Amino acid sequence: MSEKKKIALITGGNKGLGLEIGRQLGKLGYAVLLGARSVSKGESAAKQLRAEKLDARAVKLDVTSAEDIAAVTRTIESKFGCLDVLVNNAGVKLEKGWTQNTTSIMDAAMLRDTFDANFFGLVALTQSLLPLLRKSDAARVVNVSSILGSVSLQATPGSPTYKTKLFAYNTSKAALNMFTIHLAHELRHTNIKVNSAHPGWVKTDMGGSGANMSTEEGARTEVQLATLPADGPSGGFFHEGDAIAW
Ligand SMILES: NC(=O)c1ccc[n+]([C@@H]2O[C@H](COP(=O)([O-])OP(=O)(O)OC[C@H]3O[C@@H](n4cnc5c(N)ncnc54)[C@H](OP(=O)(O)O)[C@@H]3O)[C@@H](O)[C@H]2O)c1
Repeated sequence: MSEKKKIALITGGNKGLGLEIGRQLGKLGYAVLLGARSVSKGESAAKQLRAEKLDARAVKLDVTSAEDIAAVTRTIESKFGCLDVLVNNAGVKLEKGWTQNTTSIMDAAMLRDTFDANFFGLVALTQSLLPLLRKSDAARVVNVSSILGSVSLQATPGSPTYKTKLFAYNTSKAALNMFTIHLAHELRHTNIKVNSAHPGWVKTDMGGSGANMSTEEGARTEVQLATLPADGPSGGFFHEGDAIAW
């Protein structure tokens, strides 16, 4: 008897880490839904994975759009009836460069736009999909965070991230980490595990060409957390199996 295929939704799945997470989950036998705010970019990414003989399709999903969130929830409900993996990968870094600390002059719009995508959007999407995640035997939610969101490392002179003070991006990832902790606690008696991932510094449009990891390497942490066994952790923050300081 063949086992039912597991269903995974990856937001921001049209390029970068999201596309590679989709590829790796596809290779593990998951039916992959690549969320993309541009339908054409999503379709071409899904086509790419299908050409590699993977089960992939695109879904229109701007995580800041309540309509898109409702539509994607309805689509997954009607086509599959449940969801096994949600990778909240979509994200923005609106600050230019990596070295300037513009906290004292940052306008509210940049903070709001960053939080809309990196925090409010993924919280709303996760809440909307929770009834479908609850129907899975072993659901996994992976929140793609960043070591830049580690409050303790930001506060520690000499730490690897101490000098990278991107106020909007870093605070949005710190808030996302708190979402991980709170949701994992609320769901602690269920089959749903919720963890934050730091992919590493990865060569993507966001990470830039100077990054030291390929997307193939950067997707490893997210895929590992998306496929955790029943005795795996929940409510943690990890990079390649190692815990990262909050
Ligand atoms: N690269 C790194 O070194 C690194 C390190 C730590 C953490 N991360 C995190 O990893 C995740 C993926 O980043 P990446 O490096 O792959 O960056 P990327 O290549 O810039 O990809 C970002 C993805 O997010 C999508 N996105 C942005 N806003 C969205 C929205 N409102 N709704 C839906 N999708 C949206 C983008 O869609 P469009 O193509 O339409 O713009 C794109 O698919 C992010 O959360 C990032 O913060 C990256």
